[in-house]
Amino acid sequence: MILDNVGTTALPITPCSAEGALLWDTNGKTYWDFYGGHAVTLLGQGHPRWVAAIADQAKKLSFFTTLAPVPVRDRAAQKLTAFTGMDVVFFVNSGAEANEGALKIARKATGRPVVVAFEHGFHGRTMGALGATWKYRDQHTPAYGATRFVPFGDLAALDEALGPDVAAVIVEPVQGIAGVVVPPAGFLQAIRQRCDAVGAVMICDEVQCGIGRMGVPLVSTSQGIRPDLVTVGKGLGGGFPVAAVLLTHEMAGTVKPGEHGTTFGGGPLACAAVEATIDIVESEGLLEKSNALFAAMQSALAVPGVQCIRGGGAWAGVVLDRPARPVAAALLEMGFMVGTASDPFVLRLAPPAVTPVSAVFELADALERAIALAPRISSAA
Ligand SMILES: Cc1ncc(COP(=O)(O)O)c(C=O)c1O
Repeated sequence: MILDNVGTTALPITPCSAEGALLWDTNGKTYWDFYGGHAVTLLGQGHPRWVAAIADQAKKLSFFTTLAPVPVRDRAAQKLTAFTGMDVVFFVNSGAEANEGALKIARKATGRPVVVAFEHGFHGRTMGALGATWKYRDQHTPAYGATRFVPFGDLAALDEALGPDVAAVIVEPVQGIAGVVVPPAGFLQAIRQRCDAVGAVMICDEVQCGIGRMGVPLVSTSQGIRPDLVTVGKGLGGGFPVAAVLLTHEMAGTVKPGEHGTTFGGGPLACAAVEATIDIVESEGLLEKSNALFAAMQSALAVPGVQCIRGGGAWAGVVLDRPARPVAAALLEMGFMVGTASDPFVLRLAPPAVTPVSAVFELADALERAIALAPRISSAA
């Protein structure tokens, strides 16, 4: 038996096979996957070059720890730094673990205890990451250090929260689980300036928005920001479990040998997946395809009942005038898998970049029907 950590939101289907942006369940029903398995499968499922890279690596060297250099790890790190513009990579196994490492590095580098995070932000479910996560902050023990939460986009409140005791500001450049929430223009630049002014580390959590999801390698660097630390995960391995902390040379210089580690992080299979994923994103024009997909989603999905569509690349928060869950359930019955968000009025779409634009038009038609079926109440339960 498996511990059901999803509870009442569990989907009433059993997916068993997939190709590109299409999924099939055990009853043989077909779905367009507009959720990408929690914003993971940017390449689509079963990409032949990705499959071959992992299979080839499994035959050559299936596992070795970080105690010795391994060619595929070096190549993956080189590819990832070239793609993102960051200097140094530390591979881990999940987004939460990446944030855990980033927070630890920031606290140790500054010798300060406090982290500033944003309301409705999500950083993961391990203790340190949990402490900076708005929704589950009650599950966090203060023993891991204090967090000051600030409304997303509110610079006056950020100024109040900052001080000489602040180790880091951790921010999603665009909040994902909150509902693909884009901050006001200049917000990241303002955080960078304020971190510099008080000597705090700027951590950009790009676990969901980064590595092509928004049509750029990193959202922060695409806005001219150089964070001290960036965390990436989700799409990084094209579905293979791998994440990373990306560091500047200066931050990397604060970590002494043996201070941080992981058994599985940077394993050869994960690194083969990273190398293949970035290679495919670059050589098959997936950033451009993601951006074309967003343009299609923005125009086609503006059906009655949709208040606005925000985001970018292969990522959209569709804000409805009614609760999103019944709409998502109706869409699933019609053969479209979509996600929801912690904002109960938002559908979260994170399709593979290889999704054909014609599927967006099919979704638009289904969305209009699903909205018409769903009750409109003034506030979500
Ligand atoms: C922005 C962000 N950070 C961190 C995480 C945690 O990643 P993981 O579930 O791989 O631990 C998530 C997961 O959804 C996320 O969206």
